[in-house]
Amino acid sequence: MVGTRPEAIKLFPVINQLKAQTSAAVTVCATAQHRHMLDQVLRLTNIVPDIDLDVMRANQTLDQLTARLLQNVGEVLDQVRPSRVIVQGDTTTAMTGALAAYYRRIPVSHVEAGLRSGDIYAPWPEEVNRKIIGTIADQHFAPTARAAEALRRENVPEERIHVTGNTVVDALLAARSIVDSDPRLASRWDSIRAAHGNRRIVLVTCHRRENFGAGILGIADALQTIVKRQDVAIVLPLHPNPNVADVLSERLSGHPRVELITPQDYTDFVGLLSLAYVVLTDSGGVQEEAPTFGKPVLVMRETTERPEGVEAGTARLVGADRDRIVAETFRLLDDDDHYSAMSRAHNPFGDGHARERIVKVLLDA
Ligand code: UD1
Ligand code: UDP
Repeated sequence: MVGTRPEAIKLFPVINQLKAQTSAAVTVCATAQHRHMLDQVLRLTNIVPDIDLDVMRANQTLDQLTARLLQNVGEVLDQVRPSRVIVQGDTTTAMTGALAAYYRRIPVSHVEAGLRSGDIYAPWPEEVNRKIIGTIADQHFAPTARAAEALRRENVPEERIHVTGNTVVDALLAARSIVDSDPRLASRWDSIRAAHGNRRIVLVTCHRRENFGAGILGIADALQTIVKRQDVAIVLPLHPNPNVADVLSERLSGHPRVELITPQDYTDFVGLLSLAYVVLTDSGGVQEEAPTFGKPVLVMRETTERPEGVEAGTARLVGADRDRIVAETFRLLDDDDHYSAMSRAHNPFGDGHARERIVKVLLDA
């Protein structure tokens, strides 16, 4: 099951590996909880879904989305009658996919299992989505030892937990090698480089529901303050959710040192990551990717279910509070020792071989 951009990014390595290693039918169901952003990844990875539920509606609410997904996914499972359902992460697609499978007593594999913030409202609703999936799944692919430990604390039997690394690192390395081998992709950001000369690029992404309202306004205020500096340019691929895009566009568009751009193809975003000096994000996936490039990450959340980056010293939590975001960004811009300490290229989330470990477990079962 794939529904959103990050699910497609993190599952395409598994789908391709599985298809290469088994003659069993692998059915890809795209719920299209995201439309354009999902299609961007599917196109890039040459994955053609066998089923496309096309459920996205503009500004969808959680109850509408959940109800539509549960019913539609249930119907698919009744038609396809799979022997196993694979879900990834913590989206409503993943949660309803697991629940619909459970209602039919179909076993569920959970890729990226065991992430916990300990706060059911942050990230919201993802923390509860993961717990629901964790209750249902019989194969838990934990990206890190810490995630596996969280599952043990919830009494998941040892033989059902597999520490695999996060497939995002597999995806990232595949994307990076495409960028490195294609001069057109490598030069994709020449115009931004040319427009901003020696300015340092602050790459920003945000979209979390718990930040809607006050949080997004705090982030917008912080960005307005940061970009008053002449030595900085902000590049911000806008998430299309109107609760994010409208507020940030209203506050930041037209500024000569702010590039508000559309959601980028994954390879282009990977190119942007390598161009950035600092990354400001509330994204899960971006937190996991930036350390590969040695880019310091300021996480615009109060808590994270991915503390490995913070513990490794490559990420810091700054919330969605204007003053903290500004202070920590300026510190990275002005204090070279602090910058060097945070910019070590080391990725605690995976080694790029998660897909092989996952597929081995799937095929040995
Ligand atoms: C969803 C996931 C979140 C994940 C994020 C990745 C849930 C509840 N949330 O959040 O866990 O981190 O995806 O980006 O599962 N939209 C478009 N085009 C698109 C995609 C979205 O226009 O291609 C707009 C639509 O107005 C849509 C809205 O964004 O209604 C929200 O999409 P939704 O999937 O509900 O939530 P996200 O905030 O994207
Ligand atoms: N990403 C992308 N294009 C963009 C911004 C992000 O391809 O313009 C990728 C990013 O590299 C990461 C994933 O999208 O792999 C993160 O998705 P998002 O932040 O939407 O969701 P989350 O990871 O928070 O669930």
